[in-house]
Amino acid sequence: MIIFDKVSKKFGSIIALEDVSFTLEKGEFVFLTGASGAGKTTLIKLLLGEYLPSAGEIEMNGEKVSKVSKKNLYLWRRKLGVVFQDYKLFWDKTVAENVALPLEIIKTPAKEIGEKVQKILELVGLEERKSLFPAQLSGGELQRVSLARAVITAPEILLADEPTGNLDPKTSKEMIRLFKEINEKGTTILMATHNNEIVDSFKARVIELEKGKVARDEKEGKYYKDKKKEKEEDDD
Ligand SMILES: Nc1ncnc2c1ncn2[C@@H]1O[C@H](COP(=O)(O)OP(=O)(O)OP(=O)(O)O)[C@@H](O)[C@H]1O
Ligand SMILES: [Mg+2]
Repeated sequence: MIIFDKVSKKFGSIIALEDVSFTLEKGEFVFLTGASGAGKTTLIKLLLGEYLPSAGEIEMNGEKVSKVSKKNLYLWRRKLGVVFQDYKLFWDKTVAENVALPLEIIKTPAKEIGEKVQKILELVGLEERKSLFPAQLSGGELQRVSLARAVITAPEILLADEPTGNLDPKTSKEMIRLFKEINEKGTTILMATHNNEIVDSFKARVIELEKGKVARDEKEGKYYKDKKKEKEEDDD
């Protein structure tokens, strides 16, 4: 459903990504790892259409990013939910208002918004906090608001850039468990993280970047192949 085909991104003389190729299948859970500066955020921003590749092509559901006009980028982005390390919440809006925003943008009827916000706040365990403002919440709670807002429109793909960066180990694990739950309902997840403990404790595919290149693409120690090939081998 997502294809990176020999994608490079340069900023002047800085090469942030070089010749990056991989495919994400529908429903996969993938960690994107690598040292600071390896290119994780750049890769996520390319997928969001915030940057255009300097070379190569990105495809989502058969559509090429290079063929999407600036005017229509919002339609491309609608398939994606995003969670950032610094939450990117509106501090003058309540939890419920923050979570409702993406639905208001797509002009969802008020009754439906109310129901969906209620349901999603239950999922992330924040119903009791719905009338509070972000400044009144803990880091873990803020991150859960951010997650709720990212998934309320039921995007096909959820991107997360260091969603546990500000959280303690226990809260981080709870956060990842929520991502897993969302993944089990069918959402494809690509999560950039430095947190090796979390990566090691969840048996997900890992794409590791090193200085802008794919240094590793594995699942449970096996070099990653696409699902079809894996199945053919299992059948042998
Ligand atoms: N807008 C930009 N202009 C110039 N250089 C940039 C820009 N964005 C990223 N870079 C450079 O590209 C490289 C990759 O940056 P990126 O933010 O993708 O790394 P990262 O893997 O997300 O790192 P971190 O783990 O610290 O968040 C870095 O060398 C960075 O300085
Ligand atoms: Mg980053």
